[in-house]
Amino acid sequence: MASIDRYNPVTSEIVAELSGIVGEKYVIFGDAEKLQAWSHDEVAEERYAHMPEVAVRPATADEIAAIMQLANREMIAVTPRGAGSGLSGGAVPLAGGIVLLTGRMNKVVEIDLANMMITVEPGVVTNEINDLIRDDGLFYAGYPMSLETCYIGGNVAENAGGGKAVKYGVTGRYVTGLEVVTPTGEIVQLGGKLVKDVTGYNLIGLMVGSEGTLGIFTKITLKLMPLPTANVDLLCLFESAEQAIGAVPKIMTGSGIIPTAIEFMDRSAVRASCEYLNETIPYERAGAMLLITVDGSGAEQVEREYEAIGEMCLEAGAIEVYVADNFTTSERIWKVRRNIGEAYGIVTRYQSSEDLVVPISEIPALVTGMGRIADKYGVQIPCYGHAGDGNMHTRVVMNPDWPVEKWEKTLPVVLKELYELAKSLGGTISGEHGIGHKRKKYLPLVMAEPVIDVMRAIKKAWDPNNILNPGKIFDV
Ligand code: LAC
Ligand code: ZN
Repeated sequence: MASIDRYNPVTSEIVAELSGIVGEKYVIFGDAEKLQAWSHDEVAEERYAHMPEVAVRPATADEIAAIMQLANREMIAVTPRGAGSGLSGGAVPLAGGIVLLTGRMNKVVEIDLANMMITVEPGVVTNEINDLIRDDGLFYAGYPMSLETCYIGGNVAENAGGGKAVKYGVTGRYVTGLEVVTPTGEIVQLGGKLVKDVTGYNLIGLMVGSEGTLGIFTKITLKLMPLPTANVDLLCLFESAEQAIGAVPKIMTGSGIIPTAIEFMDRSAVRASCEYLNETIPYERAGAMLLITVDGSGAEQVEREYEAIGEMCLEAGAIEVYVADNFTTSERIWKVRRNIGEAYGIVTRYQSSEDLVVPISEIPALVTGMGRIADKYGVQIPCYGHAGDGNMHTRVVMNPDWPVEKWEKTLPVVLKELYELAKSLGGTISGEHGIGHKRKKYLPLVMAEPVIDVMRAIKKAWDPNNILNPGKIFDV
């Protein structure tokens, strides 16, 4: 960060003023143990953490606006934080200052059945949205892997993707309206309940994925979809990663079907998650597997589609295709997939979670290239992710025999090579986790300086004092 030390410290006068805004019991100051919890997100490496000086828990947009005005007047950085399930350090208060917790803003403002829209506050847990509307035959199609814990506000801030993006796209597709507190402390309304709206610049599009640097969302309006009535998962076992991943472009282009999800998991990723969950899906025989979901509005159509896809997998060399057509079995398999990150998170601190994305035709080349890089440097690069939309995750894991110094020297070289691989295939360095400060120094690798300059100019226009979440995505 160019001038992270230009902010003023949080004094007891500031704390008193914050207490006046949100109430004393919603200000946490001087309690290092509590504050420590908000010094990091799900990025495992300690060097990405930074302590806040104070945490505040506002309940309204007016309170947030008052906090932002105070922060601008006193030159104190503010970092918004949802559930802290991010994977690029987006919620880490790099400049200390105020961490602004959105957890008390967890109300459902309106379920509008006539327009098939829901308006919620940012601290609602994403999965709860679906629990609320299921009986109305509706669903919200955003499906981040952390859906049981993440907040919708964080999903919008990161433009979260996830398992169902192949068919349903990512968070941004569903955001039609936002109430935003600007970095200088104005409350503004963007969009509404309109499905189409080309009035002026697409500022909602700008807010979505802005990683907490351009505004704090206080109301979010989401478009809902009719709930699919039929849903089947296929677990397809392949001998090798090459065979499994090779099947993906074939399914995408040759089946005439848009599957809901095509997830790839190599053997080591499945094993790590199964051990973590004490689960026993049959990975022993497989070098890799695909988890494919098909959903729709009729059992017959879904059956036709999953049979066609299962057939294609067998033709592509699958040794076994298991069909999960009930919630319990599906959930068991998806849980293994969803917990891969968690599982690696506890194995070792010496690892890096990555989020490469390439055009779908290049997915096999990406996976092969990752294997090559792993061999070249003697690190593990287990591979898993949203193969059907080209978004592949990995954990680069330190060889346990290595001294830490060797790891610290090697990791940046490995990362640069992985990022260059993605770029050479027409891809980029993050599909859904964001840049945050974890990938900031690599942004110029995939984005030209004049383009980064435009982003800097936008940041300055919204946040002239660089108060909101400084040090993220790029330096101003
Ligand atoms: C996943 C998270 C890491 O897909 O994005 O598991
Ligand atoms: Zn993911």
